[in-house]
Amino acid sequence: MAWKKVAEKNEIEKGKGKEYIVDGKKIAIFNQDGYHGVDALCVHQDGSIAPGRLDGHIVECPLHFWHYNIKTGELLDFLKGVKLQTYKVEARADGVYVDI
Ligand code: FES
Repeated sequence: MAWKKVAEKNEIEKGKGKEYIVDGKKIAIFNQDGYHGVDALCVHQDGSIAPGRLDGHIVECPLHFWHYNIKTGELLDFLKGVKLQTYKVEARADGVYVDI
């Protein structure tokens, strides 16, 4: 695991997410009560959850509206026991870092 800078400070609006490619992986970083990092690809049909609508810590995939908890990566619909990988994210003085 290593910390990598993914974004400038204030690049990710509050209440929104943005997708970044880090070491070849698509990771969604959400700015919602602090930063949360989770694999960006929805397990349904690989849509990106990064631009999904947030309701608290639940994001809705924009393609067919499956829901995930952005803190745990857990899928909340249809399939039991499915979790996207989560990543630690830190806001530092010079930007936003993810531990990958
Ligand atoms: S790709 Fe996410 S719900 Fe279909």
